[in-house]
Amino acid sequence: MNNRINTVEGPTIIPTGAALGAEIRGLDLSLPLPDETVTAVRGALLDHCVVFFRGQELSDEDQVRFTNYFGKAEVHVRDMPDRPVKEILFISNIKKDGKDIGALGDREVGFHSDLAYMPKPGTLSALYAVEIPDSGGETRWGSGYAAYEALEDGMKERLKGLRATHRHPDTPLNPPEIIDHPVVCTHPETGRKSLYVTPMFTRSIVGLEDHESRALVDTLANHVTRPEFIWTHEWRVGDLVMWDNRPTMHGRGRFPSDQRRLMKRTQVFNDVAPVA
Ligand code: SIN
Repeated sequence: MNNRINTVEGPTIIPTGAALGAEIRGLDLSLPLPDETVTAVRGALLDHCVVFFRGQELSDEDQVRFTNYFGKAEVHVRDMPDRPVKEILFISNIKKDGKDIGALGDREVGFHSDLAYMPKPGTLSALYAVEIPDSGGETRWGSGYAAYEALEDGMKERLKGLRATHRHPDTPLNPPEIIDHPVVCTHPETGRKSLYVTPMFTRSIVGLEDHESRALVDTLANHVTRPEFIWTHEWRVGDLVMWDNRPTMHGRGRFPSDQRRLMKRTQVFNDVAPVA
């Protein structure tokens, strides 16, 4: 780390060259950040949707402090084992005394936008890599902006005004009422339109016959997963990745069950529902 660490001039933003994602260098997130630096990170997040920082050494409190620069870190809706800092959700296959210490195990996780099955879905999420397997467990992000912009004009017209229902496959996580959001959402800060459809959570299109709804959900789910909209992050210990769920989706590859993976997650919830 250099002596410009956490100074206004410090952060260097290096886009991945894919449809989304940028590395930010020159910041030590275990230290407080000046306002101008927070503004620069926020700007990079709005521009690139996903930003990552390598080589961090963060306590749980550091991660919560960093998250709080971008909203209020909230306790996740999942009911998880007790932990010292409640805003941290463990994503892990590690067991302690025979019990999972975190969520998701070692399985593949399909593409989704965090908490889309809730009335006001998660806005930002941050994932910090503490232990990673030798292979697998990479995380992929997809750009809802790029997916929307690549649609043909006829499809853009067809999607105007449509809403889609979203449900978590793990039934108890869902609220009692079925939630729907616009199929095309306008980002409240950038004003850009994005496709808000994911293979894991999107169930149906409101008001369409079942067969028509199923066909449209399948078409859009296939479209959003096209490789040109996706960027894959190969994790290193000490990486912190933060992303904006509103114009993105993400998914994770499986990894060998005899290898440990421990990620710590924080999240900032949205105080407004997505708008068309
Ligand atoms: C998630 O889907 O939020 C978890 C991503 C990961 O474990 O890399």
